[in-house]
Amino acid sequence: MQLDDDDKLSQFLKINDELNHIKDIDSLLDTILYKTRRLTNADAGSIFLLENKNLNFSYVQNDTLRRRDALNNKQIYSSFSIPIDEKSIAGYVALKGKSLNIDDVHKVNDTVPYSFNSSFDEIAGYTTQSMMTIPLITTRSQVIGVMQIINAKDELGNPVPFKTSDENYLNFFAGSATSAIEKAKMTREMILRMIKMAELRDPKETGSHVNRVGSYAIEIFQKWAEQNNLKYREIKNYKDILRISAMLHDVGKVSISDIILKKPARLNEGEFKIMKTHAYQGAKLFHGNVSDLDTLSYDIAYTHHERWDGRGYPRMLKGKNIPLAGRIVALADVYDALISARVYKPAWDEAEVIALLKKEAGHHFDPELVEIFISIYDVIKAIRNKFPDKE
Ligand SMILES: [Fe+2]
Ligand SMILES: [Fe+2]
Repeated sequence: MQLDDDDKLSQFLKINDELNHIKDIDSLLDTILYKTRRLTNADAGSIFLLENKNLNFSYVQNDTLRRRDALNNKQIYSSFSIPIDEKSIAGYVALKGKSLNIDDVHKVNDTVPYSFNSSFDEIAGYTTQSMMTIPLITTRSQVIGVMQIINAKDELGNPVPFKTSDENYLNFFAGSATSAIEKAKMTREMILRMIKMAELRDPKETGSHVNRVGSYAIEIFQKWAEQNNLKYREIKNYKDILRISAMLHDVGKVSISDIILKKPARLNEGEFKIMKTHAYQGAKLFHGNVSDLDTLSYDIAYTHHERWDGRGYPRMLKGKNIPLAGRIVALADVYDALISARVYKPAWDEAEVIALLKKEAGHHFDPELVEIFISIYDVIKAIRNKFPDKE
């Protein structure tokens, strides 16, 4: 179905409101791209955000590759960055702060400094043709990134150029998308700061570890939700808060004494008993249930050490009495602790870790979740590549 221009304008206004309610930066980028592509009938798109003076590839969607099953969530976790200069299309748009609407990237005029980089197409087996690239500019005229949408389609699904009228709407829409992105980035940074505080106390809880646990958690949930027929909106809303809450699973450790947290040897029984209180102490930080985010963070902090067989702590909950998010984070957290090297232990061998997860299905972990985890293992590995441990 093609929308006329008036419909599009009112749709964009409605989306603005929606964007302002999204807390997590990744779910925000997902929504921005999805809505933009739907309104312009674009097959694919990506968003680059400015980081350390480079454009960082931050999000991608591609219907054709998804149908071929060549694009799964693995690509979302690819990480590369391009410089802001005149050589690439995205770099040029970021540098000039002006959008570019190119009918066919393979036929760009010799007089322009930029050219199309076909390496993604070659790797993915995709053909980019029309491309619209919009700068994301703040009200203070700073460029914080670019959005690129690719291959507008006609009614038959054939690639056609993007309309000039689309360019106008998108430049307008990009303004509100930008302020929502800035807000979500600030939320993410605040969370990371909270985590850094915990990390100062317990060096095991690093930024990379929590980023990985957050990403594993939403990927496990996504698959679980599809298998359990949850509605698109429900999935989206839950993912929005799950990543942040999962990242905060161990902030309760700020309440544990350094003597215990930094002890270079195994904890004795009494010390371990104190250590275990971090679950309850963490939950207390989110008590009050002011928002969905608080409720979920409370659940995760409180239950991420419970075990499926009821032999966990602090409340020895069993099976589905443990909230889903707690069961998901338990698996994600243990997996990451085993597969990563820590000061007191080397990284476990991959095969050993998988064998242990399988063995613990139905004991430590929810068996359905272990099965899901193994079925999305290529995505899990992509997440590990995206957030490596920093030395
Ligand atoms: Fe913990
Ligand atoms: Fe952890």
